[in-house]
Amino acid sequence: MRRLEIVIITQGPELYSTTRLASAARARGHGVSHLNPTRCTIRMGSDNRGVLYNGQRIVQPMDCLIPRIGASITQHGLRVLRQFEAEGALLLNSTQGIAGSRDKLRAMQAFDAAGLDIPRTAYARGAEDLRRALGDVGGPPVILKLLEGTQGIGVMRCDTVASAESVVDVLSRLQQPIIVQEYVREARGQDLRIIVVGDRAVAAMLRKSGGDFRSNIHRGGTGTAVTLDAETERIAIEATRCLGLRVAGVDVLESDRGPLLLEVNSSPGLEGIEGATNIDVANQIISEVERISD
Ligand SMILES: Nc1ncnc2c1ncn2[C@@H]1O[C@H](COP(=O)(O)OP(=O)(O)O)[C@@H](O)[C@H]1O
Ligand SMILES: [Mg+2]
Repeated sequence: MRRLEIVIITQGPELYSTTRLASAARARGHGVSHLNPTRCTIRMGSDNRGVLYNGQRIVQPMDCLIPRIGASITQHGLRVLRQFEAEGALLLNSTQGIAGSRDKLRAMQAFDAAGLDIPRTAYARGAEDLRRALGDVGGPPVILKLLEGTQGIGVMRCDTVASAESVVDVLSRLQQPIIVQEYVREARGQDLRIIVVGDRAVAAMLRKSGGDFRSNIHRGGTGTAVTLDAETERIAIEATRCLGLRVAGVDVLESDRGPLLLEVNSSPGLEGIEGATNIDVANQIISEVERISD
């Protein structure tokens, strides 16, 4: 394999996941640099077109970009990545894939259209239609979710019709779009996090919440390594493929009617999964970078 110049697009070069990716890349003989997406600006419509970094043209070679765009700057990050793509840069995860995964409704629509099983889910704009949707998904209890949320923030469980309706009323007053979702009771605060790289599930853990219904590691959940059954592995790979991602962290709930897809994360955290499984996920990701850069 020739030496690649790999660029990690991140606001946090010191974070666990980014340092792991950088050291895996260096260990495989590649050059690594970081670009902070908030320092990138776009120029168009002149001979000076391109992405500027701190106001300067980027002159370094870039064989492959690894986007690690934080949820707080999704839209800006996507605009910058789109410009890199327009100029022919190779991205590990495409702009379209990242955009699809950041909107939970859009992702659910893609999964459902692809025939992948999801919890009963509804979307409506106004309070009245949302109230009706609460019953349609089998509540209460019912799950309400912001379309863009991460680390469990933006996911609520309402145990009574009255509490669900009051939350729905507040959110629609704030013009905050939400989805209403069946509460998968039998999951009991557990879910599966599966890391898909290319067309393989390379690592999986069972996450148990620390008392909450949400199993996110950032909410106090703990992970243990698991071996996936064939069906769960298949839907994790399919979900990643149907959003057009090469690398993803897929969340799956185990229900009485089989595995149900929750969401796909385009910049999955590596600390929890590597700790739980002892699998060198960063190394697998860099080997995928090599494969697509060839
Ligand atoms: N419909 C549901 N039924 C039961 N638990 C759920 C449901 N949706 C989400 N959860 C729990 O909440 C967690 C966070 O939800 P998720 O959709 O993955 O949002 P986030 O992007 O914040 O991680 C999940 O990992 C799961 O433990
Ligand atoms: Mg999640």
